[in-house]
Amino acid sequence: MARIIDGAAIARDIRAEVAAEVAQLRAAGTVPGLAVVLVGADPASEVYVRSKARACQEAGMLSRVLHLPAETSADELTGTIDGLNADPDIHGILVQLPLPPHLNSKMFLERVSPAKDVDGFHPTNVGRAFVGDPTGFVPATPEGIMELLRRERIDTHGKHVVIVGRSLIVSKPLASLLMAPGPNATVTLCHRHTADLGQHTRMADILVVAVGKPGLITGDMVKPGAVVIDVGVTRVDDPSSPKGYTLHGDVDFQAVSEKASAITPVPGGVGPMTIAMLLRNASTAALRAHERRNARKPAGAR
Ligand code: GUN
Repeated sequence: MARIIDGAAIARDIRAEVAAEVAQLRAAGTVPGLAVVLVGADPASEVYVRSKARACQEAGMLSRVLHLPAETSADELTGTIDGLNADPDIHGILVQLPLPPHLNSKMFLERVSPAKDVDGFHPTNVGRAFVGDPTGFVPATPEGIMELLRRERIDTHGKHVVIVGRSLIVSKPLASLLMAPGPNATVTLCHRHTADLGQHTRMADILVVAVGKPGLITGDMVKPGAVVIDVGVTRVDDPSSPKGYTLHGDVDFQAVSEKASAITPVPGGVGPMTIAMLLRNASTAALRAHERRNARKPAGAR
Protein backbone atom coordinates (compact mmCIF):
# COMPACT_ATOMS: atom_id res chain seq x y z
CA MET A 1 0.00 0.00 0.00
CA ALA A 2 1.28 3.44 -0.91
CA ARG A 3 2.25 6.05 1.65
CA ILE A 4 -0.20 8.95 1.40
CA ILE A 5 1.58 12.27 0.92
CA ASP A 6 -0.10 14.77 3.24
CA GLY A 7 0.00 17.97 1.17
CA ALA A 8 -2.27 19.74 3.64
CA ALA A 9 0.22 19.21 6.51
CA ILE A 10 3.23 20.28 4.40
CA ALA A 11 1.29 23.34 3.19
CA ARG A 12 0.55 24.27 6.83
CA ASP A 13 4.29 24.20 7.60
CA ILE A 14 5.04 26.46 4.61
CA ARG A 15 2.26 28.86 5.53
CA ALA A 16 3.72 29.15 9.03
CA GLU A 17 7.14 29.91 7.49
CA VAL A 18 5.57 32.57 5.25
CA ALA A 19 3.72 34.08 8.23
CA ALA A 20 7.08 34.45 10.02
CA GLU A 21 8.58 36.20 6.95
CA VAL A 22 5.54 38.49 6.77
CA ALA A 23 5.89 39.37 10.46
CA GLN A 24 9.51 40.41 9.84
CA LEU A 25 8.52 42.52 6.84
CA ARG A 26 5.74 44.19 8.81
CA ALA A 27 8.19 44.98 11.61
CA ALA A 28 10.47 46.56 8.99
CA GLY A 29 7.61 48.74 7.72
CA THR A 30 6.15 46.82 4.75
CA VAL A 31 2.78 45.05 4.93
CA PRO A 32 2.73 42.56 2.03
CA GLY A 33 -0.39 43.11 -0.12
CA LEU A 34 -1.95 40.71 -2.62
CA ALA A 35 -4.76 41.73 -4.99
CA VAL A 36 -6.94 39.10 -6.63
CA VAL A 37 -9.01 40.16 -9.63
CA LEU A 38 -12.06 37.98 -10.26
CA VAL A 39 -14.27 38.71 -13.27
CA GLY A 40 -17.73 37.11 -13.34
CA ALA A 41 -19.20 34.44 -11.11
CA ASP A 42 -17.59 31.10 -11.97
CA PRO A 43 -18.47 29.06 -8.83
CA ALA A 44 -15.15 27.18 -8.65
CA SER A 45 -13.19 30.44 -9.11
CA GLU A 46 -15.22 32.09 -6.33
CA VAL A 47 -14.25 29.25 -3.97
CA TYR A 48 -10.55 29.49 -4.97
CA VAL A 49 -10.49 33.27 -4.58
CA ARG A 50 -12.11 33.09 -1.13
CA SER A 51 -9.53 30.56 0.04
CA LYS A 52 -6.65 32.61 -1.38
CA ALA A 53 -7.92 35.74 0.38
CA ARG A 54 -8.40 33.90 3.69
CA ALA A 55 -4.95 32.31 3.48
CA CYS A 56 -3.44 35.73 2.81
CA GLN A 57 -5.06 37.26 5.88
CA GLU A 58 -4.03 34.29 8.03
CA ALA A 59 -0.42 34.90 6.95
CA GLY A 60 -0.70 38.54 8.07
CA MET A 61 -0.89 40.00 4.55
CA LEU A 62 -3.25 42.59 3.20
CA SER A 63 -5.72 40.92 0.85
CA ARG A 64 -7.75 42.89 -1.67
CA VAL A 65 -10.33 41.09 -3.80
CA LEU A 66 -11.65 43.04 -6.80
CA HIS A 67 -14.79 41.26 -7.91
CA LEU A 68 -15.82 42.70 -11.28
CA PRO A 69 -19.06 41.91 -13.16
CA ALA A 70 -19.01 39.37 -16.01
CA GLU A 71 -19.76 42.21 -18.50
CA THR A 72 -16.54 44.11 -17.59
CA SER A 73 -14.98 45.51 -20.78
CA ALA A 74 -11.39 44.98 -21.88
CA ASP A 75 -10.66 48.67 -21.19
CA GLU A 76 -12.09 48.47 -17.69
CA LEU A 77 -10.04 45.39 -16.83
CA THR A 78 -6.91 47.00 -18.28
CA GLY A 79 -7.57 50.08 -16.13
CA THR A 80 -8.01 47.93 -13.01
CA ILE A 81 -4.71 46.12 -13.62
CA ASP A 82 -2.88 49.39 -14.36
CA GLY A 83 -4.22 50.82 -11.09
CA LEU A 84 -2.88 47.83 -9.14
CA ASN A 85 0.47 47.97 -10.97
CA ALA A 86 0.84 51.58 -9.75
CA ASP A 87 -0.44 50.96 -6.19
CA PRO A 88 2.47 50.91 -3.69
CA ASP A 89 0.39 48.93 -1.14
CA ILE A 90 -0.04 46.03 -3.56
CA HIS A 91 2.99 43.79 -4.15
CA GLY A 92 1.32 40.83 -5.87
CA ILE A 93 -1.47 40.72 -8.46
CA LEU A 94 -3.37 37.67 -9.58
CA VAL A 95 -5.99 37.67 -12.34
CA GLN A 96 -8.11 34.59 -11.64
CA LEU A 97 -8.60 32.35 -14.67
CA PRO A 98 -10.69 31.55 -16.59
CA LEU A 99 -11.86 35.01 -17.70
CA PRO A 100 -15.25 35.35 -19.43
CA PRO A 101 -14.94 34.43 -23.14
CA HIS A 102 -15.00 38.05 -24.45
CA LEU A 103 -11.77 38.83 -22.53
CA ASN A 104 -8.54 37.50 -24.03
CA SER A 105 -6.59 36.24 -21.00
CA LYS A 106 -3.19 36.52 -22.74
CA MET A 107 -3.61 40.28 -23.12
CA PHE A 108 -4.34 40.75 -19.40
CA LEU A 109 -1.69 38.38 -18.09
CA GLU A 110 0.82 40.44 -20.09
CA ARG A 111 -0.55 43.65 -18.58
CA VAL A 112 0.41 42.67 -15.00
CA SER A 113 3.79 44.13 -14.05
CA PRO A 114 6.32 41.22 -14.02
CA ALA A 115 7.52 42.37 -10.58
CA LYS A 116 3.97 41.85 -9.19
CA ASP A 117 3.13 38.75 -11.25
CA VAL A 118 3.00 36.24 -8.37
CA ASP A 119 1.23 33.71 -10.64
CA GLY A 120 4.33 33.60 -12.88
CA PHE A 121 2.18 33.78 -16.03
CA HIS A 122 3.74 36.89 -17.65
CA PRO A 123 5.98 35.90 -20.59
CA THR A 124 8.93 37.60 -18.87
CA ASN A 125 8.54 35.30 -15.85
CA VAL A 126 7.83 32.27 -18.05
CA GLY A 127 11.14 32.99 -19.81
CA ARG A 128 13.02 33.55 -16.54
CA ALA A 129 11.76 30.22 -15.19
CA PHE A 130 12.78 28.52 -18.43
CA VAL A 131 16.35 29.83 -18.33
CA GLY A 132 16.63 29.15 -14.57
CA ASP A 133 16.78 32.84 -13.58
CA PRO A 134 15.66 32.97 -9.89
CA THR A 135 14.67 36.66 -10.04
CA GLY A 136 11.30 35.82 -11.63
CA PHE A 137 8.24 34.03 -10.26
CA VAL A 138 7.48 30.36 -10.88
CA PRO A 139 3.79 29.36 -11.01
CA ALA A 140 2.54 28.08 -7.67
CA THR A 141 1.43 24.57 -8.66
CA PRO A 142 4.71 23.31 -10.22
CA GLU A 143 6.70 25.01 -7.45
CA GLY A 144 4.37 23.30 -4.94
CA ILE A 145 5.04 19.90 -6.52
CA MET A 146 8.83 20.49 -6.34
CA GLU A 147 8.47 21.45 -2.69
CA LEU A 148 6.38 18.32 -1.94
CA LEU A 149 9.08 16.15 -3.52
CA ARG A 150 11.84 17.95 -1.57
CA ARG A 151 10.08 17.78 1.80
CA GLU A 152 9.06 14.14 1.29
CA ARG A 153 12.71 13.39 0.38
CA ILE A 154 11.73 11.88 -2.95
CA ASP A 155 14.92 11.81 -4.99
CA THR A 156 14.58 12.99 -8.59
CA HIS A 157 18.25 12.72 -9.59
CA GLY A 158 18.51 10.51 -12.69
CA LYS A 159 14.90 9.40 -12.21
CA HIS A 160 12.40 9.16 -15.04
CA VAL A 161 9.53 11.57 -14.43
CA VAL A 162 6.57 11.20 -16.77
CA ILE A 163 4.20 14.19 -16.82
CA VAL A 164 0.75 13.82 -18.39
CA GLY A 165 -0.55 17.21 -19.57
CA ARG A 166 1.09 20.10 -21.40
CA SER A 167 -0.35 23.22 -19.75
CA LEU A 168 1.56 26.44 -19.31
CA ILE A 169 0.35 26.62 -15.69
CA VAL A 170 1.57 23.21 -14.52
CA SER A 171 3.24 20.76 -16.89
CA LYS A 172 5.61 22.87 -19.01
CA PRO A 173 7.14 24.80 -16.08
CA LEU A 174 7.32 21.57 -14.03
CA ALA A 175 9.21 19.81 -16.84
CA SER A 176 11.69 22.68 -16.96
CA LEU A 177 12.19 22.70 -13.14
CA LEU A 178 12.70 18.93 -12.98
CA MET A 179 15.25 18.71 -15.79
CA ALA A 180 17.33 21.62 -14.44
CA PRO A 181 20.72 21.07 -12.76
CA GLY A 182 19.94 20.10 -9.15
CA PRO A 183 16.79 18.01 -9.63
CA ASN A 184 18.47 16.36 -12.68
CA ALA A 185 15.47 14.27 -13.71
CA THR A 186 14.84 12.75 -17.13
CA VAL A 187 11.46 14.07 -18.21
CA THR A 188 8.86 12.72 -20.63
CA LEU A 189 5.86 14.93 -21.34
CA CYS A 190 2.69 13.26 -22.67
CA HIS A 191 -0.57 14.83 -23.83
CA ARG A 192 -3.91 14.01 -25.45
CA HIS A 193 -2.28 13.01 -28.75
CA THR A 194 0.32 10.69 -27.20
CA ALA A 195 -0.07 7.21 -28.70
CA ASP A 196 -0.38 4.44 -26.08
CA LEU A 197 -0.23 6.60 -22.97
CA GLY A 198 0.15 3.54 -20.70
CA GLN A 199 3.39 2.53 -22.39
CA HIS A 200 4.90 5.84 -21.19
CA THR A 201 3.28 6.04 -17.74
CA ARG A 202 4.45 2.49 -16.91
CA MET A 203 8.05 3.65 -17.36
CA ALA A 204 7.71 6.42 -14.74
CA ASP A 205 9.62 6.35 -11.46
CA ILE A 206 7.57 9.47 -10.67
CA LEU A 207 4.26 9.99 -12.46
CA VAL A 208 2.63 13.45 -12.46
CA VAL A 209 -0.85 13.77 -13.92
CA ALA A 210 -2.35 17.21 -14.61
CA VAL A 211 -5.17 16.78 -17.10
CA GLY A 212 -8.57 17.14 -15.39
CA LYS A 213 -10.01 13.75 -16.45
CA PRO A 214 -11.17 11.69 -13.44
CA GLY A 215 -9.95 8.10 -13.51
CA LEU A 216 -7.60 8.59 -16.51
CA ILE A 217 -4.77 6.70 -14.78
CA THR A 218 -5.73 3.14 -13.87
CA GLY A 219 -3.77 0.61 -11.83
CA ASP A 220 -2.30 -1.14 -14.89
CA MET A 221 -0.72 2.15 -16.07
CA VAL A 222 1.60 2.47 -13.06
CA LYS A 223 4.90 0.71 -12.36
CA PRO A 224 5.05 -1.02 -8.95
CA GLY A 225 6.80 1.29 -6.47
CA ALA A 226 6.27 4.50 -8.48
CA VAL A 227 5.54 7.84 -6.81
CA VAL A 228 2.26 9.29 -8.12
CA ILE A 229 1.39 13.00 -7.99
CA ASP A 230 -2.23 13.73 -8.90
CA VAL A 231 -2.83 17.38 -9.89
CA GLY A 232 -6.35 16.91 -11.29
CA VAL A 233 -9.30 18.45 -9.46
CA THR A 234 -12.67 17.88 -11.11
CA ARG A 235 -16.09 18.44 -9.55
CA VAL A 236 -18.24 15.34 -10.07
CA ASP A 237 -21.98 15.55 -9.29
CA ASP A 238 -22.79 13.60 -6.15
CA PRO A 239 -26.28 14.11 -4.73
CA SER A 240 -25.30 12.19 -1.56
CA SER A 241 -22.68 14.81 -0.66
CA PRO A 242 -23.81 17.98 1.21
CA LYS A 243 -22.31 20.21 -1.52
CA GLY A 244 -23.90 18.21 -4.34
CA TYR A 245 -20.49 17.29 -5.76
CA THR A 246 -17.22 15.65 -4.77
CA LEU A 247 -13.69 16.42 -5.99
CA HIS A 248 -11.89 13.80 -8.06
CA GLY A 249 -8.30 13.57 -9.24
CA ASP A 250 -7.04 12.11 -12.53
CA VAL A 251 -5.87 8.91 -10.85
CA ASP A 252 -7.95 5.89 -9.82
CA PHE A 253 -6.78 6.28 -6.21
CA GLN A 254 -7.93 2.86 -4.90
CA ALA A 255 -6.27 0.79 -7.61
CA VAL A 256 -3.13 2.93 -7.98
CA SER A 257 -2.44 3.20 -4.24
CA GLU A 258 -2.06 -0.60 -4.20
CA LYS A 259 0.86 -0.37 -6.65
CA ALA A 260 2.54 2.96 -5.93
CA SER A 261 5.05 3.55 -3.12
CA ALA A 262 3.64 7.04 -2.42
CA ILE A 263 0.65 8.98 -3.73
CA THR A 264 -1.01 12.38 -3.27
CA PRO A 265 -4.73 12.32 -2.43
CA VAL A 266 -7.41 14.60 -3.92
CA PRO A 267 -8.32 16.72 -2.08
CA GLY A 268 -5.46 17.32 0.37
CA GLY A 269 -2.45 16.68 -1.89
CA VAL A 270 -1.23 19.21 -4.44
CA GLY A 271 -4.15 21.66 -4.00
CA PRO A 272 -3.16 23.07 -0.57
CA MET A 273 0.45 23.40 -1.79
CA THR A 274 -0.66 25.74 -4.59
CA ILE A 275 -2.05 28.27 -2.11
CA ALA A 276 1.00 27.96 0.15
CA MET A 277 3.38 28.67 -2.76
CA LEU A 278 1.25 31.59 -3.96
CA LEU A 279 1.62 33.11 -0.48
CA ARG A 280 5.36 32.51 -0.64
CA ASN A 281 5.54 34.28 -4.02
CA ALA A 282 3.53 37.20 -2.63
CA SER A 283 5.82 37.48 0.38
CA THR A 284 8.86 37.38 -1.95
CA ALA A 285 7.34 40.12 -4.14
CA ALA A 286 6.85 42.29 -1.03
CA LEU A 287 10.39 41.61 0.19
CA ARG A 288 11.83 42.62 -3.20
CA ALA A 289 9.73 45.82 -3.25
CA HIS A 290 10.86 46.58 0.31
CA GLU A 291 14.52 46.14 -0.68
CA ARG A 292 14.11 48.28 -3.83
CA ARG A 293 12.54 51.05 -1.78
CA ASN A 294 15.30 50.96 0.83
CA ALA A 295 17.97 50.98 -1.87
CA ARG A 296 16.46 54.20 -3.29
CA LYS A 297 16.33 56.00 0.08
CA PRO A 298 19.04 58.58 0.67
CA ALA A 299 21.35 57.79 3.60
CA GLY A 300 19.81 58.82 6.92
CA ALA A 301 16.24 59.01 5.54
CA ARG A 302 13.52 57.11 7.37
N1 GUN B 1 -7.31 29.28 -12.19
C1 GUN B 1 -6.99 28.00 -11.86
N2 GUN B 1 -5.75 27.94 -11.32
C2 GUN B 1 -5.27 29.20 -11.31
C3 GUN B 1 -4.06 29.78 -10.86
O1 GUN B 1 -3.14 29.11 -10.37
N3 GUN B 1 -3.96 31.13 -11.02
C4 GUN B 1 -4.95 31.87 -11.57
N4 GUN B 1 -4.75 33.17 -11.70
N5 GUN B 1 -6.09 31.37 -11.99
C5 GUN B 1 -6.25 30.04 -11.86
